[in-house]
Amino acid sequence: MSELINKYLEIVDQEISSYSYGVEPVELYEPIKYILDLGGKRLRPLLTMLSYALYKDDVEKTSKAAAAVEVFHNFTLMHDDIMDNAPLRRGKKTVHEKWNSNIAILSGDVMLVRAYDLLLESESKNIKKVIKKFNKCAAEVCEGQQFDMKFESDEVVSEREYLNMIRLKTAVLLGYSLELGGLLADTNDDQCDLLNAIGENIGMGFQLKDDLLDVYADQAKFGKQVGGDIIANKKTFLLIKALELAKGEDKQKLAYWLSLTDFDPEKKVKEVTGIYDRLGIKTLTENLMNDYFEKGICQINQLNAREKNKTQLKDFFVQLINREK
Ligand code: IPE
Ligand code: IPE
Ligand code: MG
Ligand code: MG
Ligand code: MG
Repeated sequence: MSELINKYLEIVDQEISSYSYGVEPVELYEPIKYILDLGGKRLRPLLTMLSYALYKDDVEKTSKAAAAVEVFHNFTLMHDDIMDNAPLRRGKKTVHEKWNSNIAILSGDVMLVRAYDLLLESESKNIKKVIKKFNKCAAEVCEGQQFDMKFESDEVVSEREYLNMIRLKTAVLLGYSLELGGLLADTNDDQCDLLNAIGENIGMGFQLKDDLLDVYADQAKFGKQVGGDIIANKKTFLLIKALELAKGEDKQKLAYWLSLTDFDPEKKVKEVTGIYDRLGIKTLTENLMNDYFEKGICQINQLNAREKNKTQLKDFFVQLINREK
């Protein structure tokens, strides 16, 4: 990790850990501290800071807004883990497993409220735009999450539908996080639109990588349950491609594993992964992932910003492509 990224991480972590989310009842606030203390990559606040730094130097000024996008992201994770029935998050028990689902719902709700507080406390001439664009993004994340759940039981999901779903559930928040840096730096609308587009392209690549890791990550490094998407019949790019390409015995096997309601999860993960391997699904997914990353990285050249900082943003994206968790 570069020195600069470490400096930014320190700024946002300081804000996240010193912020008062609330005290009582402890059952409401403890899970918030718990999930935020589990760490994570802090990708979204880093994007806000890296993007602000394209135009201005005093990056500390973004700390509240940067914390806001991270708190919002962690709220979505807390609820996502209920929806996905996920046991692990960042190597530790998920909130609904450690406490219960009602607690995870309510703590998540108040995190969304605190995300607004943090945004409103950040210094910006563009605060109305900041909030309006945040609202659009937050509603889209919910739309994406609903498509994601609905697709679990839909037999046929097209590549186009999948791409729209991940754009909504994941990419728009990366787009917003980058645009937020531009809004705080008071740059013009064209720059903000371009930042948003860059973030969306990177976000598409990022979710494709997340889908890949869900199957192919090393459990010791990943921090989430490897195979969770296969267990839940998530219509990831991997599964959609496999359904499209499988023939003969593999086609039957895949349909069989998708149809079971009662099964040995380990066996299902092993069998479905075997089918992916035989069909070369990993490479297909990597190719599409790389296309999105390349597109986003290329668009950075069009930004009317400081060259040194553009390079820093590019370097950061390259690390995301190669991440192991
Ligand atoms: C996980 O996000 C959810 C997705 C949108 C893929 P991250 O991979 O950024 O999770 P953390 O915050 O680093 O744990
Ligand atoms: C989650 O997608 C996207 C949001 C939380 C909005 P996933 O369900 O794939 O995220 P992980 O893999 O649980 O982190
Ligand atoms: Mg999910
Ligand atoms: Mg999930
Ligand atoms: Mg995932």
